[in-house]
Amino acid sequence: MLTTPSASQYLLDWYHPQARAALLAFLQLIPNYHYQDLLKVILCRAARSARLTTHFELDFPRAPQREPYYCHKHKRICPPTTDAMKFLRRYALDTLRRVGQFAATRTDAPVTILCADSRQAALPPFDMILTSPPYVGLIDYHEQHRYAYELLSLLPEPFASIGWHDSNLNDNEDREIGAACKGKSVAARRRYIEGIEGALGNVARQLRPGGRACIVAGDKYGLYEGLAERLGFREETVLQRTVNRRTGRRAGDFYESILIWRRP
Ligand SMILES: C[S@@+](CC[C@H](N)C(=O)[O-])C[C@H]1O[C@@H](n2cnc3c(N)ncnc32)[C@H](O)[C@@H]1O
Repeated sequence: MLTTPSASQYLLDWYHPQARAALLAFLQLIPNYHYQDLLKVILCRAARSARLTTHFELDFPRAPQREPYYCHKHKRICPPTTDAMKFLRRYALDTLRRVGQFAATRTDAPVTILCADSRQAALPPFDMILTSPPYVGLIDYHEQHRYAYELLSLLPEPFASIGWHDSNLNDNEDREIGAACKGKSVAARRRYIEGIEGALGNVARQLRPGGRACIVAGDKYGLYEGLAERLGFREETVLQRTVNRRTGRRAGDFYESILIWRRP
C-alpha cells in the first residue's frame, strides 16, 4: 500500500473533497493489482466525469463549477457532482462489459501500439492507413485530458507509465499538430498542414502499393487540397458524414469529410 499522495493544485481546484478522496483511494490501490492499465482507464474515465464542471461543458470546461447551475443539457438546475464512487462503479462495470465483448471477437492477430509523434514514428510496412487527425486550432488534447496526467503522475515509478511499448506520461503538448492554443491564423493553418503533411508523408512511405488511406478531415479552409498528389496518392472519393452532438454542447451538427486515397 502506498502512502496517500498529496493532490496537486489542479486536483484541489477541480474536485470536491469527497470525490478527490475516492479517486486518490482508487489510485493508491492500483499497484496491488495485475491489470493496472485497465484500472487506470477506469480511474481516468471516472475522473473525467467527476470534475467540478457543468454537464454541458465536459469537453472544454472553463472554470470549476462549485454552485448549482442551470443545465442546458438536462433543462433544469443541476448541482455539481460531489461523488466519484458512482462513476468508479459505473465505469468498472462498463469496462468489464466491453472487455467481455472484445474477448468474444478478438483474434490472435498481433497488435502493436506505438506512442510516438506520427511525423517520426518508425513503422513496419502495412496495407492501410485509417486516421482521424486533429483539426486546425480546435482542441488542446493534453489540456482536455489534464485530469489523467495529474492523477497518474502521482503514482510512483514504475507504476506511473502505461504498459504499452514506448509510452510514458511526458507532456508532449508542443508537438500537438493543430492545437487550439496555436490558433487558426493563416500562419497557424500553414504550420498545421505542414504538420499533417509530415505525418502522412512519414506513414505513407511504409504503405504498400495499392494500399489505401482513409482520413477523417474537417477541412473548411481547403487545406488538404493537392495534398494527395503531393504525397503520391490518387484521390478515390470523398464521403460526407454528419457529426451529431456528443458529450458537450456544441453550436450544432457539422459535417466532416472522409478522404479516401489510393497509392498507385
Ligand atoms: C481527432 S483526434 C483522434 C484520436 C483517435 N484517432 C480517436 O479517434 O479517438 C486527433 C489525435 O491526434 C493526436 N496528435 C496531435 N498531434 C500529434 C502528433 N504530432 N503525433 C501523433 N498524434 C498527434 C492528438 O493528441 C489526438 O489524440
